[in-house]
Amino acid sequence: MTRPIFGVMLCLCLIATLSVSREINASEPSAVVIPKELPQERDGRMKWWREARFGMFIHWGIYAIPGGRWNGKPVNTAGEWIMNGANIPVEEYEKLTKQFNPVKYDPAEWVRIAKDAGMKYIVITSKHHDGFCLFDSKVTDYDVVDATPWGKDLLKPLADECRKQGLHFCTYYSIMDWHHPAQMRGSDRAYNPTKIRDGRKREYLDYMKAQLRELLESCRPEVLWFDGEWPDWYTEEDGREIYAYLRQLEPTLIINNRVGKGRKGMEGLNRDDQEYVGDFGTPEQQIPPGGLPGIDWESCMTMNHTWGFKFDDHDWKSTETLIRNLIDCASKGGNYLLNVGPTAEGEIPAASVERLQGVGRWMKVNGESIYATQASPWPNQLPWGRCTQKAIDGKTTRLYLHVFQWPEDHRLELSGLTNTPVKAYLLATGAPLKVEKTSSGVVITDLPQQPVDAVATVICLDIEGQPKVE
Ligand code: GLC
Repeated sequence: MTRPIFGVMLCLCLIATLSVSREINASEPSAVVIPKELPQERDGRMKWWREARFGMFIHWGIYAIPGGRWNGKPVNTAGEWIMNGANIPVEEYEKLTKQFNPVKYDPAEWVRIAKDAGMKYIVITSKHHDGFCLFDSKVTDYDVVDATPWGKDLLKPLADECRKQGLHFCTYYSIMDWHHPAQMRGSDRAYNPTKIRDGRKREYLDYMKAQLRELLESCRPEVLWFDGEWPDWYTEEDGREIYAYLRQLEPTLIINNRVGKGRKGMEGLNRDDQEYVGDFGTPEQQIPPGGLPGIDWESCMTMNHTWGFKFDDHDWKSTETLIRNLIDCASKGGNYLLNVGPTAEGEIPAASVERLQGVGRWMKVNGESIYATQASPWPNQLPWGRCTQKAIDGKTTRLYLHVFQWPEDHRLELSGLTNTPVKAYLLATGAPLKVEKTSSGVVITDLPQQPVDAVATVICLDIEGQPKVE
């Protein structure tokens, strides 16, 4: 080989090796070392997530086949809990895999639905409590590739499609596992909460680590969203081990509080004394009235009463409620993770799609008032709606006033705001509004007769400096 060619080959080899080891740390981390991080490094890691504000949760698995009915009877639990709710023996539940063939699955379409709704990320179940895996796992045959007629990985195409369409791909993983042989039923009536078999915890933690590594390598998720951490055998120390393992493999990864025991007694985290591990709190089916000051958080919610698909649940939240929930989260400094439960064939229910389209229409006009904003400067809820804010340059802050109740006197009072107003206008049309400083705050005096949007009309109010509310 002539020298220049040899040189080029050497370079190519080096680049190949470097790019592989850059994707995922090649060696197996051994010690439990949580990477030290300066506040600004943490801010950098959390940046995209904090700015995103709105994501799609997807609960999908073989539980979508029974869809909430077992032996012809409705089962009174969330769809994905049917194995526990109907107390189905493992061998019988396993048979569902033989029917799982989601021929209508179209990841490009799912991502488009999320994107059109204004969502910036997707969190999909890789393995729920039932233990069935939606990805190709080498450490079990209880996965979509080995056990179903479909025979193909479901997550990787979705991850690729997310990146193609500019969304962040994230994945959910349940620690509790009703199928893994190291865990056993909690009682003869139910799986939940599982117990661990004598001496087999290490085996299970290693199983988790192997699967999580597979997920990082095949799908490159940007958030790992844990759940099912409540059985007593799983400890905060285990959570630290898993957290450290993942951050050593992928330093930029974001991990929720349920990797440890952080939601015991509260849905947040305790950042100050570092008692709990995890990057953000996960209030479930609720928006904390005062937000969760000092920590990052995300409220996850269903559109009806189940996470996994159920044939018989038609009690959907209105589009108005969904839009106002999103605004409510943003006004309290949190994200909104809104769930869909696709059918066993692979379709997102039409009722969910319609509602997401409605949210999307609102977001197209008003997205600026949600993305990359911060919590309201008012400590209490405002009588007419909500507020978010954004620094627009070193001197000016823009307040986004989300008006839910359109004032009959066409005046919007912002009591306690002591800043000097610069200008006010309707976000939807750009039409200017009259704004004055008063002895008790700031008032916008000439609102149009009708709201621009009956759900929430956004008024932009630019003020000098950072907002001060007395
Ligand atoms: C709960 C449920 C689960 C759901 C999750 C979403 O912990 O057990 O079914 O996936 O909440 O937050």
